[in-house]
Amino acid sequence: MDYVTLGEDGPKVSEIGLGMWQAGGTAWGADVTDEGCLAAIRRAHELGVTLIDTAEGYGGGHSEEVVGRGIREIGRDNVVLATKIMAPHTRAEYVERACDGSLKRLGVHEIDIYQIHWPDPWDQASLKKTMKALEKLHKAGKIRHIGVSNFAVRDLEEARGALSNVDIVENQIHWSLLHRTVEDEVVQYCAKEGIAVLPWSPLEKGILAGKYDAGNKPTDEVRKGSRMLKDANLAESAKLVAVLHEVGAKHGKTPAQVALNWLMRQPGTVVPIPGAKSASQAGENAGAAGWKLTPAEVRRITDAATALRLDLF
Ligand SMILES: NC(=O)c1ccc[n+]([C@@H]2O[C@H](COP(=O)([O-])OP(=O)(O)OC[C@H]3O[C@@H](n4cnc5c(N)ncnc54)[C@H](OP(=O)(O)O)[C@@H]3O)[C@@H](O)[C@H]2O)c1
Repeated sequence: MDYVTLGEDGPKVSEIGLGMWQAGGTAWGADVTDEGCLAAIRRAHELGVTLIDTAEGYGGGHSEEVVGRGIREIGRDNVVLATKIMAPHTRAEYVERACDGSLKRLGVHEIDIYQIHWPDPWDQASLKKTMKALEKLHKAGKIRHIGVSNFAVRDLEEARGALSNVDIVENQIHWSLLHRTVEDEVVQYCAKEGIAVLPWSPLEKGILAGKYDAGNKPTDEVRKGSRMLKDANLAESAKLVAVLHEVGAKHGKTPAQVALNWLMRQPGTVVPIPGAKSASQAGENAGAAGWKLTPAEVRRITDAATALRLDLF
């Protein structure tokens, strides 16, 4: 496993992380259990993964509790812990209370990366005031670094402009071979500004593993009705999975591992955080690290993804 630094002065993390939305309960399917998620954390740790992502919003805090249990097992020093604060808690007067709640559920004294889950479209709380409140938490030693999520360039510029002593170390965004609109602007901005990108849903919620088709679709709360799971889109994505398969065979890697490695080969610092509900998924995803697609293979996969005709209307 290789390790990379997030942002100018952020933490050093494994080049692939572990997403733990799955640990929020059964939103991701009846097969999700706390034990399965803990096994995923253990396996990821064994393979050198240090970055774990969760949020106060996942299962009303249950994911943070499970991650906290995992951290106690594998040791606090072995984890770079990223969690998120969501609107309406991003109102400046609620920020510290939300952070204290996460610290308690996680059972830690300090959060390594505290991220704004998404720009607040409802209350439209002042982002400037939120950033100042986060900076206060940083000064108080409750958080080590500030991150954001789902921020466009305009949001990043406003947020950074409000910070005096620290900078944003990473932006977590929806990016996968099947979801590439972020490449137009925000990915380029982050690469230029030295802000790391953490792609969420990097496997497009399991589709890039190649196991779903018209006759076999997930029906859980998170994915049922997803536009990406329309029959026509699954048929298109199967064409890409076939290419991932072929390229992966040369490296002894699975389509999921190739899809993750493709993200890791993009400009800037890119650290995917695939979600896992079991030790075997976490193990497979960790195997996306420690090797490299060649530039020609990256181009071939990019071309195959660009040629897809997805209808996400
Ligand atoms: N900031 C945000 O707004 C935001 C939004 C979404 C997610 N996230 C974060 O990003 C993480 C990852 O995103 P995600 O969980 O939405 O999507 P993902 O990583 O693309 O997909 C995860 C799902 O794919 C399947 N899977 C995982 N590894 C697999 C493998 N090796 N082989 C076959 N199937 C596999 C599993 O579901 P099945 O086995 O049931 O198919 C798993 O639940 C989350 O856990 C969360 O921490 C953040």
